[in-house]
Amino acid sequence: MAKPALPDYNFQQATLDFLSKGPKQLFINNEWVAAQSGQTFETRNPATGEVLAEVSLAGEADVDAAVAAAAAAFPGWRDTIAAERGALLFKLADLIDQHADALAELETLDNGKPIRVARRGDLPYVTKHLRYQAGWADKIEGSTVPVTFPNQFVYTRREPLGVVGAIIPWNFPLLMAIWKLGPALAAGNTIILKPAEQTPLTALYLADLIVEAGFPPGVVNILTGPGLPTGAAMAAHHGIAKLAFTGSTAVGAKIMEAAATSNLKPVSLELGGKSPNVIFADADLNAAVRGAQWAVFSTAGQECVAGTRLFVERAVYDQVLDGLKQNVEKMVVDHGFAEKVHVGPLITDEQLSRVMSYIDEGKQGGAEIITGGERLGNGHANGNFLTPAVFSYEDDSLKMVQEEIFGPVAAVTAFDDWDELIERANATMYGLAAGVWTKDVARAHHYAHAIQAGTVWINGYGMIDPAAPFGGYKMSGFGREMGKEAINLYTQVKTVWVNTSD
Ligand code: NAI
Ligand code: MG
Repeated sequence: MAKPALPDYNFQQATLDFLSKGPKQLFINNEWVAAQSGQTFETRNPATGEVLAEVSLAGEADVDAAVAAAAAAFPGWRDTIAAERGALLFKLADLIDQHADALAELETLDNGKPIRVARRGDLPYVTKHLRYQAGWADKIEGSTVPVTFPNQFVYTRREPLGVVGAIIPWNFPLLMAIWKLGPALAAGNTIILKPAEQTPLTALYLADLIVEAGFPPGVVNILTGPGLPTGAAMAAHHGIAKLAFTGSTAVGAKIMEAAATSNLKPVSLELGGKSPNVIFADADLNAAVRGAQWAVFSTAGQECVAGTRLFVERAVYDQVLDGLKQNVEKMVVDHGFAEKVHVGPLITDEQLSRVMSYIDEGKQGGAEIITGGERLGNGHANGNFLTPAVFSYEDDSLKMVQEEIFGPVAAVTAFDDWDELIERANATMYGLAAGVWTKDVARAHHYAHAIQAGTVWINGYGMIDPAAPFGGYKMSGFGREMGKEAINLYTQVKTVWVNTSD
């Protein structure tokens, strides 16, 4: 393959070396191996449409090989002293810090997000999360159980499940990898990670750091490929003991079905959202408008928690809509390495067309476009750029209002009273997150109580922390990542009875 065409930017030597190394292979047993499938695919820069790398496509036989390696490594890893497992994860976090600039550059090349966001957002959060979970490795405890029988000593252990399969999306490629790797490995599982086919590069870069940190062969295996055949082969595999997935609700359902009809492997699903964000008239309106703006348009709306439905109390509706319009029109849409950029490209041209079709549906369905929703031309025509779109709407049944768009589109509407608000805010199939802006403490808590969502932000939006459990209600999925809950996701409970009578 010819050298990839890169934007004009002062790249790290490590980034250039990684990209010039040629076709990327599969990472199994701490080694780079050619795919038995003999197939490859291309990953592209969404800002230019240009090919960045050719990557191996793992087929069923490759999944078998990775499962065999992970299964062979499992007993040794499970029985490694817990503090030593933690120490390796801490070591990996240190290596990621040392390589943070190159990793951020690869993330921006592959995903499109502004380099400032990758460097100051994604990367620090990757290592924070990894260190937090590393700290759990030697704190996973069971309990003693006061049973009703005499002369029985009963205790529980939290044990790893075995080989974990992790299938992740393209919006936070390295961060999603670490969300799965951290707790799965801390708890003593081995893992097969499949990054999204749109963004495989940082996971492949990570593989070399895993070897350098000193993880035993087979503990971490990384398979690249699309949902079909790679992801589907993992979901259906009898040698995989647990499947952790982040992505669309439609694929989450398929994974659950494959899990059910293979070996009944437990699954955890972190799926889509259509999160309501509510502004009451008594809120600090400047803060609320800025919060609402970033709740949707950071990552060009390609975020599961995006606050895409904005409910505004009617008394301040015009003021909020106008403030939002003014703020949004100041946002710079450009490629991720541009000097001043707030909003990068969408991930693929298919995704761009999907988003455009929602915008068209909104317009035809009577929603009023306040600003944006247009493709960029002029030097940007080969990239998937869209200006941030704000709609004012009344009809909750529009697809644009009900379905996850995963693009820079905000749907803003007015509400008159509490009951109407809660009914409308809860009226989607999703329940991932929600926000509320008000100075009335009691009302804020009532909202947090009434809303069907796994996370609620009061006078803020979008904060996520390694210690704070995260996951969905309803069709946004189940299972909680982060915090100690994440360790529970990757362990199972064993109860041991000891007869102590003579
Ligand atoms: P997707 O759900 O198809 O892809 C996510 C991951 O699942 C990727 O690694 C993909 O290769 C894998 N996958 C796809 N089909 C599979 C199958 N049959 N079996 C096993 N694995 C499979 O999401 P996609 O197509 O990238 O985006 C479509 C929509 O999904 C977005 O517009 C957005 O609405 C939603 N989405 C939500 C995300 C979230 O964070 N909640 C992340 C990505 C997408
Ligand atoms: Mg890419």
